[in-house]
Amino acid sequence: MADSTIPIAAAPKGKPFKPAEANAKHPLAPYKTMTDDELRTRIEAVRGELGEELLILGHHYQQDEVIAHTDLRGDSYQLSEMAAKSQKCRTIVFCGVHFMAETADILANRPDRVAARNGRRVDVLLPDMAAGCSMADMAGIAQVEAAWQDMGEIIDTEQVIPVTYINSAASLKAFCGRHGGIVCTSSNARAVLQWAFERGQRVFFFPDQHLGRNTALTMDITEDQMPVWDPYALEMGGNTDEAIENSRVILWKGHCSVHQMFRAEHVARFRAEHPGIQILVHPECPREVNDIADISGSTGKIISTVQAAPAGTKWAIGTELHLVNRLKAEHPEQEIHFLSPVVCMCATMYRIDLPHLAWTLENLRDGELVNTIRVDDETTKWSLIALERMLAVK
Ligand code: 13P
Ligand code: SF4
Repeated sequence: MADSTIPIAAAPKGKPFKPAEANAKHPLAPYKTMTDDELRTRIEAVRGELGEELLILGHHYQQDEVIAHTDLRGDSYQLSEMAAKSQKCRTIVFCGVHFMAETADILANRPDRVAARNGRRVDVLLPDMAAGCSMADMAGIAQVEAAWQDMGEIIDTEQVIPVTYINSAASLKAFCGRHGGIVCTSSNARAVLQWAFERGQRVFFFPDQHLGRNTALTMDITEDQMPVWDPYALEMGGNTDEAIENSRVILWKGHCSVHQMFRAEHVARFRAEHPGIQILVHPECPREVNDIADISGSTGKIISTVQAAPAGTKWAIGTELHLVNRLKAEHPEQEIHFLSPVVCMCATMYRIDLPHLAWTLENLRDGELVNTIRVDDETTKWSLIALERMLAVK
């Protein structure tokens, strides 16, 4: 059984990352030479054979050719609920990124669920281990622990509630579980921050500064109450002691490399060229964009907003390209534009493709688990606490 939980960091220092299958002898190599039709036929054959034992989940940012083979698709929150509720399946194949598969492993294998299955775990497979998230990689557990210790020199960390965006390694979720904190997604960040402020004076929010800032700004928290913690700064995350003492939300210096590409000038251009257009963005976009958009929300909210709009509505949408293109194709009755003039796609999500999916599924059918995501028991225990707090927040 091939097993690893740390995909991208596997390259030796100084050498560029090269996926294992770049080697012609890698078992994936034959799948790379198959036609899409053959791959589709093979994938559907395994789905037919395994039936309800197999659950294929897909995030909205996946390419269409992969989405076509998923049982369920959703935003990060919906996917974690799907994993939490999964009953009949023996294996989840996760067409998303690494942190999502970790979350699925934790939630699908809660102790009560495993007991109800007479001790049987659900295996979670990620078709390509290199499908990580650059934002999640911007906050390491050692850095977060060091920051917690540093800020503890001037503020009482008993009164700080750590909140991690679900786009983070399980170790960060476990940190939140241990320290009275919680997980959030882009669809519940405001309710989660409210939960946190009912329990503490301040919030330490990681790894996405934009989601943290954009959400807190809707709660009468001002930018000057939100210092940004730079893990590479020499002292106090690059802040004065006074800034940390006066803080209400301490934001980690992390961002999504896809959403940071959207700019206020793109919004201005669309408004000038398409009168009446509505700007719909994801809250991972920088403040300058989020502030002037008409609507901001998770991928799930972006989809439901477009679905509910009358024919003829004009949109410029600021989120990952594959989702915007799918919305365009599904809603020809509306006028949908991509907000940026340059391509903003999630290159790591895109790593999940038909060859990887077919390879993973055929191995599974033959009794071989490839690319298993398995979070260790201690990390699972504490992450689960933070995730269950999130699932309980309404
Ligand atoms: P949501 O699906 O929760 O909106 O998140 C977007 C995202 O960046 C996933 O990585
Ligand atoms: Fe990570 Fe951004 Fe890709 Fe989402 S879109 S998985 S936050 S890099």
